[in-house]
Amino acid sequence: MGTTHHHHQPPTFPTKKLITWGLYALLSLALLHLYLFPVPLNQPKVTNHPRSQKTTTTSSSSLIPSSQAGKGVEQRRRSPPCDYSDGRWVPDARGPRYNGTSCSTIKDGQNCMAHGRPDTGYLYWRWRPSQCQIPAFDPTSFLQLIQNKHLAFVGDSMARNQLESLLCLLSTASSPELVYRDGEENKFRRWVFHAYNATVSVFWCPFLVKGIEKSASSGLNHNKLYLDSADDRWASELDRLDMAVFSVGHWFLHPAVYYENKSVLGCHHCPEFNHTEIGFFDVFRKAFKTTLKEVTERSWSSPSSSEKFVVVTTFSPAHFEGEWDKFGACPKKEPYREGEKEMEYMDAEMRKIEVEEVAAAAKEAAKSGGRLRIEALDVTKLALLRPDGHPGPYMYPNPFADGIKEKVQNDCVHWCLPGPIDTWNEILLEMIKRWKEDNS
Ligand SMILES: *[C@@H]1O[C@H](CO)[C@@H](O)[C@H](O)[C@H]1NC(C)=O
Ligand SMILES: *[C@@H]1O[C@H](CO)[C@@H](O)[C@H](O)[C@H]1NC(C)=O
Ligand SMILES: *[C@@H]1O[C@H](CO)[C@@H](O)[C@H](O)[C@H]1NC(C)=O
Ligand SMILES: *[C@@H]1O[C@H](CO)[C@@H](O)[C@H](O)[C@H]1NC(C)=O
Repeated sequence: MGTTHHHHQPPTFPTKKLITWGLYALLSLALLHLYLFPVPLNQPKVTNHPRSQKTTTTSSSSLIPSSQAGKGVEQRRRSPPCDYSDGRWVPDARGPRYNGTSCSTIKDGQNCMAHGRPDTGYLYWRWRPSQCQIPAFDPTSFLQLIQNKHLAFVGDSMARNQLESLLCLLSTASSPELVYRDGEENKFRRWVFHAYNATVSVFWCPFLVKGIEKSASSGLNHNKLYLDSADDRWASELDRLDMAVFSVGHWFLHPAVYYENKSVLGCHHCPEFNHTEIGFFDVFRKAFKTTLKEVTERSWSSPSSSEKFVVVTTFSPAHFEGEWDKFGACPKKEPYREGEKEMEYMDAEMRKIEVEEVAAAAKEAAKSGGRLRIEALDVTKLALLRPDGHPGPYMYPNPFADGIKEKVQNDCVHWCLPGPIDTWNEILLEMIKRWKEDNS
């Protein structure tokens, strides 16, 4: 069990990897304070026992060029889909469709305007893809497309951030009713837009695979993850979902022991154990393989189920410039200009893994004759260019009411609402439209 498993990646530079892991292990400690759930987690349905040996690796998946992501389904008689990931942010006088007063479902930590963020320039930008235009978000079209359907966001707090953006965008047209909630901090919630019988829900599954999260109550100072088993909290619901958006990543930076086939594969940032340091790239890839394999297998095994659309929102980079607990940790007030900011190694690698695994799974899904589509919502570059869109110190109300303090916690990971993340949902709408058209 002592070797690292690099066979899914080209032989890259191990030193670079090690430096990266070390760096991000430190960053992850800072980020821990941000993941907003310091309290013990309520995990009724998770078991310690990995299911029977399930993981197989799709041998050629890493050879699929990333440009094929989401193009696994044959496009009949239609122009190729727009590459939304390539473009730039341009000024836009329209401004946001909602605000912290008009939308009641914004999580406190992301309600920047209400928390006294003084500048508003970050609200007046629009993503302009090189190949196409993104139409203004039409909440009624979105609701019609999910009429009689269930759309779920599955993942960590970035999934929740995207869900809350969508709820705000949709509630400008129709009010949702919260019909279900469960878990610490309501990590599992479901809303219904009764006028459309449309259900939108959120599932807290920050790893997508089975595991136990570190917490005081479990006595664990590291996560325990079972890379060969999908997390039942979403997998057992999958048959009842019409659309699922997966969004994870940042939690893989935290200290964790990884299991595969009931034995320890290695660990990330846990010097107190004598396990092989395996970083987080390879395990992130394995987690995605397991997740997308579960999706395709479940789809084959229930042929009567309706057409399904599975979307993976790619990794969203953080923008800490200074120390996370000091004033001005993400001080920018405008997007980066073209060429001003290169994607960092870690962000690029996390995105690449997702895009490659989605491309491989999309090829499998394409054999379903339209019953299952899998695509990447490739936001990594869009997100990278928006250092101005985070709450920063305004994750708390009026942080400078008594002057500038010695220490102030900053959130340079999540997005203000309204904010750049609304664009993710504008693109999601275009992807859903396309899916519907191709299937009709
Ligand atoms: C786990 O089992 C699967 C399927 O039997 C196999 O492909 C994989 O290599 C195994 N992994 C390890 C780390 O032994
Ligand atoms: C928020 O939106 C509502 C409804 O569109 C509007 O009346 C109000 O002026 C807005 N508030 C702010 C602070 O922009
Ligand atoms: C309402 O939506 C659910 C899916 O969320 C679906 O199963 C059900 O059939 C729909 N009801 C009607 C009357 O169409
Ligand atoms: C840690 O593992 C190495 C290599 O397997 C072994 O030589 C060493 O004795 C182990 N140390 C402890 C404290 O278990």
